[in-house]
Amino acid sequence: QKLNNFDMVIFGATGDLAMRKLLPCLYQAHAAGLLHPKGRILCVSRSQMDTAQFLAKVQSDSKIHVKKNFTDALWQNFIQRIEYLTVDVTQPAHFEDLSQAVKARTETDNVIIYLSTAPKFFAPACENLAKVGLNADNVRIVLEKPLGTDLYSSQQINTDVAKYFKENQVYRIDHYLGKESLQNLLPLRFGNVFFEQVWNKDFIQSVQITIAEQLGVEERGEFYDITGALRDMVQNHIMQMLCFVAMEQPKSLNADDVRDEKLKVVAALKPMTSADVDKNVIRAQYTQTAEQKGYLQEHNVPTDSKTETYVAIRAELDTPRWVGVPFYLRTGKRLASRTAEIVLNFKAQDNGLFGANANRLVISLQPDETIVAKLFVKQVGSGLDVQPAEMVLDMGKVSDERRAEAYELLLREVIDGRLNLFNRRDELEKAWEWVMPILDNWANSSVKPYGYIASSWGPKEAQDLLARDGNAWLEDQV
Ligand code: BG6
Repeated sequence: QKLNNFDMVIFGATGDLAMRKLLPCLYQAHAAGLLHPKGRILCVSRSQMDTAQFLAKVQSDSKIHVKKNFTDALWQNFIQRIEYLTVDVTQPAHFEDLSQAVKARTETDNVIIYLSTAPKFFAPACENLAKVGLNADNVRIVLEKPLGTDLYSSQQINTDVAKYFKENQVYRIDHYLGKESLQNLLPLRFGNVFFEQVWNKDFIQSVQITIAEQLGVEERGEFYDITGALRDMVQNHIMQMLCFVAMEQPKSLNADDVRDEKLKVVAALKPMTSADVDKNVIRAQYTQTAEQKGYLQEHNVPTDSKTETYVAIRAELDTPRWVGVPFYLRTGKRLASRTAEIVLNFKAQDNGLFGANANRLVISLQPDETIVAKLFVKQVGSGLDVQPAEMVLDMGKVSDERRAEAYELLLREVIDGRLNLFNRRDELEKAWEWVMPILDNWANSSVKPYGYIASSWGPKEAQDLLARDGNAWLEDQV
């Protein structure tokens, strides 16, 4: 179904995200016939150039990222939506030009401002937008991650933005929320009879949430070294996966009802003392091998860096549904495969007939979107001995509909003004609150991260973390 007419202003339009994701994803929506014919994209950045020069850059830097559904005709048609304007966010006068450009172009009052810039520019951008009225109720503002580097800076950003924009105008991006299989957790859990009755501490022994990447830090050493895996992945993406697995049924599917339930999950995470961090959090760096660089050999990384490229955490939720169930969270770069998945390990049931058999449900977000249930079935032949078997649901085969990339899906939601897949201020700050003791512990510690061999599943200490409870990560399970 066609989206509303829109006028989108992209700040930081010459940057990596705009070239690699935003424009290619808008192209996909265009190619699929979803964008309103009059929808326009006003690209802005500090660089002095005109629309023709900007389009030449798009041609060289962005087109290559359109991996599917490319035709020259559609592309030419798409880029006609684009205009360019030089705007320095610190120059109020430039915002007069911006406001004129929006007014001159616009045939809609559906205005979207996408701040794809470093967070330090959010405050001046918002202030200057407000000065020219580009914070009216019809304007939505999209904030790109990282939204802060700790609780304090995140509060600061949110407070600055809130001076000029109401909470329901603010769209905070976490691209994991744009993934189909993450969203699918709600219908899976609450729209079927099979799962909800057993989705709790009485039946579930432990939960694992993994985002593993094969790539290292590539060319992003400078950014990554001041960020690390906890800030880059846990505080946001892993937290969203946790919320969808652990939340209670929302009153409705309205944005705030869903976000209220997510907030309750984050708020129920047991706070950690520094001693808890020592015991329940493993940080590590990938080390050099004959074929691959270690983290400390990467470009723009200090050779004595203590930044983690891997983190594993044993967390607990203090809610009636989950009390006592360990949630093992982990993420890392240069691991054995590119995987994002949630594993529910059920308690072994033994009714005296077939032995103590433990079911398992694995929900994969990537590389393939699947739901795999480990069941116990009769062995072929005489008798009733059982053997494990897998019941596999391949989400890719459920429908022939085109599956959009996360960013496209989120951009479509912004255009139509649905807040469900964007984070509210309180959720985000609660998540920062929970990770703060970990950051503080590391900042005050002289202990170096553990090492792990590139393309492995991480350090041995992360296996020990689970072994302590008599558990094992999925790849070590039989
Ligand atoms: C980003 C992180 O938010 O997510 C990157 O900054 C990471 O470091 C990426 O590679 C992973 O996203 P995906 O969708 O490829 O799992």
